[in-house]
Amino acid sequence: MKVSRSDFLKYMGKGMLALTAVRSVDLLSETKSSRSHKKHFASDSSLGHSKKIPGATFKPVRPSTVDDLILPEGFRYDVIAAYGDKINAKGDTFGFAADFNCFFPFPNDPNSALLWTNHEYLNELEYYVTGYDYQVKAPNTRTPEQIEKYLYALGGSIIGLRKSNGTWVLDPNSKYGRRITGRTEFQLKGPASGSEAMGGKTKAYGTFANCSGGGTLWSTALSCEENFDMVVNDCKLEDIREYGWIIEIDPFDPNSTPIKHTALGRFAHENAALAVSPSGKLVVYMGDDSKDQCVYKFVSAEKYDPKKGKANSELLDKGTLYVGNFEKCIWVPLDLEKNNDLKNAKDKEGKPMFSNQADVLVRCREAAKVVGGTPMDRPEDLEVHPLDGSIFVSFTNNDSHGNFYGQIVRIFEKDSNPEAENFDFEVFAAGGGKSGFSSPDNLAFDSAGGLWMVTDMTTKLLGKSIFKKFGNNGMFFLPTSRGDEGKVFQFASAPIGSELTGPWFTPDEEFLFLSVQHPGEDTKDYSRPTSSWPSKKKGDIPKPAVVVIRREN
Ligand code: FEO
Ligand code: CA
Ligand code: CA
Repeated sequence: MKVSRSDFLKYMGKGMLALTAVRSVDLLSETKSSRSHKKHFASDSSLGHSKKIPGATFKPVRPSTVDDLILPEGFRYDVIAAYGDKINAKGDTFGFAADFNCFFPFPNDPNSALLWTNHEYLNELEYYVTGYDYQVKAPNTRTPEQIEKYLYALGGSIIGLRKSNGTWVLDPNSKYGRRITGRTEFQLKGPASGSEAMGGKTKAYGTFANCSGGGTLWSTALSCEENFDMVVNDCKLEDIREYGWIIEIDPFDPNSTPIKHTALGRFAHENAALAVSPSGKLVVYMGDDSKDQCVYKFVSAEKYDPKKGKANSELLDKGTLYVGNFEKCIWVPLDLEKNNDLKNAKDKEGKPMFSNQADVLVRCREAAKVVGGTPMDRPEDLEVHPLDGSIFVSFTNNDSHGNFYGQIVRIFEKDSNPEAENFDFEVFAAGGGKSGFSSPDNLAFDSAGGLWMVTDMTTKLLGKSIFKKFGNNGMFFLPTSRGDEGKVFQFASAPIGSELTGPWFTPDEEFLFLSVQHPGEDTKDYSRPTSSWPSKKKGDIPKPAVVVIRREN
């Protein structure tokens, strides 16, 4: 199969460099393939795979139940920011349950950078944030003060970073330090803004359940609202339609109003992976992380133009949304004008289900099912391979199908064109005892095409039953080059009760940012948490945090 890549794709997972021409690489030809690899090894980075391609350049760690972030010999981690840390002069603080990270270097200062981090949810650990006992689920007796604390702890943080003694550290007084919370004002853009389906609203208030996301070519972050219904319920919010979107934040402009892009549909968004097609259109791959929900992509109507800078954001407001049908291997347009199934769909009373495109976008799940979108096993992260443009999708698991361990699927677009309406796919790696991982979640590629994956075995089942053999959640490295695909090397083991989320390499691949989400989530007695990470002092409460990982020396 002919596959193509663009340097744009190469950099999407790493940083924000310029778009260059798309060219073809035949992956099945070892000669050509290794020639193209060499180009990417030139930087000789310490976390990447410059020397020992295609295997791991570290001695894998063993599954562990230790309450620490365990890394291979020769690597170390340092906490960048933990829950409650001050992030600006005003005294704003870092939110809870760190998830997706996106690193933004300053173009003219190699010693300064910004980091966007998602703050997803409180759940079992809410007590440490609001004082409310989550285990007493009904009735919802949160006070107004508890609700404000809850909404402040979620959303995202922009933090300032500076280089110090050879590593990145938090600048607690950065003028860019900013919180986006469950109360922040957003502009709604795209077809649903101001529509009847949205009650005429052009604004929304708050973001939460921010799971994963993506970086844009114009140096902004996309962040995905996943299990928003839980927060709407807990915080007694009025209009659930304001949530379930992909948001966009400009970290470099502290006064900017963030955006919710309605053209990308409303569902439990996990992440957003971007590609540019040979014709220059922007393509966004997305997953709806719930049992029996679908995989989507969006193709912009207009073309990406580097000269337009931040104005390229408008590409996300006009285009065609597609849902994947994996039985027929087709992308089906969720466009009322193009799709007769949508036009003809009737509700129980025989009335049209969708009167306009805003209806389709606001009730995207219903529309996806009407047109034959395939129900999948919890599509989580999707990422685009930097060398061949194939798309990797984590399907975490789906116990109602007897799929407990999950799998990573690789999608090949027809003619390697992200705009294509046909595709093929194969299972790249399956969870289970043989591979040594279960429940794949976030993915990240290094520039040599090595796949880095973190797992999300649900806390309720960690260390129990069929999951016992895997120990704590972890991070894994999987080569993707021919002959070595399917090999799995464990890179990290997470503290007790946590999952690792938001892996993001710096453009030089010397540093890996990683979140440790919800350590101690299996705690039953709040005075005796199961984890004391990151302080590791007995009696201290566990705190979610972002760490930076590097090779020692
Ligand atoms: Fe928030 Fe789908 O993990
Ligand atoms: Ca996730
Ligand atoms: Ca997950």
